[in-house]
Amino acid sequence: MAEPLIKLSGLTSGYGDVQVLWGIDLEVREGEIACIVGSNGAGKTTLLRTISGLVHATGGSIIYDGNDILRAQPDVVVGQGIAHVPEARRLFRGLSVRDNILLGAYLRDDRQEILADLELIYNLFPILKEREKQDASTLSGGEQQMCAFGRGIISRPRLLMIDEFSLGLAPQAVERLSEALIEINKTGITMLLVEQDVITAFEVAHYAFVIETGRVTLNGSTKELSDNPMIRQAYMGI
Ligand SMILES: Nc1ncnc2c1ncn2[C@@H]1O[C@H](COP(=O)(O)OP(=O)(O)O)[C@@H](O)[C@H]1O
Ligand SMILES: [Mg+2]
Repeated sequence: MAEPLIKLSGLTSGYGDVQVLWGIDLEVREGEIACIVGSNGAGKTTLLRTISGLVHATGGSIIYDGNDILRAQPDVVVGQGIAHVPEARRLFRGLSVRDNILLGAYLRDDRQEILADLELIYNLFPILKEREKQDASTLSGGEQQMCAFGRGIISRPRLLMIDEFSLGLAPQAVERLSEALIEINKTGITMLLVEQDVITAFEVAHYAFVIETGRVTLNGSTKELSDNPMIRQAYMGI
């Protein structure tokens, strides 16, 4: 069994007086795609934002590659090799597709290598190459998500965290993006996905954590959880 690349223990966090996470234990092994599923408001986005250092943890630990990053600033977290593709993609209007992707490389200074990585991203999503000079806000939802993935990948992360990539997209776009995530994982990038769409998440991920009101209530391989009657009824509608 591979070592965990990241391991959260007893993680608590929230906003001011409002506690959202109540002691999260979770780990993602190197090379794996893990997902966090749960209803709206369960604390999924807060969890990714806490790992990224955007929301301050109040307790517990986050051990990443052997170091505790619980109190690390967001740029330090990125510098350690953790990329975060946020909810709703958050591309910059007024910037081209190419420049939006390149923003993800802001901590790198190896220009030739960055441009080579940009070509790899264009090979993965040829439509982005065709649209590279267009304002990113003119892309379709699925294309914007490709661009957001590109911005995440170009930082050369070891851990790529993606918040609700399927939200609001047509099934065909979700299918294409799911395939891309599997291809990206095969290049050696470990992933932590957050999804409300459990069927999509289970198609892509190897392992899942179910979170309810800021607590992990169940975890297991996606294969095993797909056969769990409670999960099927509560989250998959079957
Ligand atoms: N900036 C914020 N300030 C205060 N409360 C927030 C903030 N963002 C989220 N929350 C609250 O935290 C809880 C979890 O939200 P969130 O992490 O966005 O859930 P999910 O991503 O699972 O839908 C919700 O009750 C939400 O209202
Ligand atoms: Mg969310």
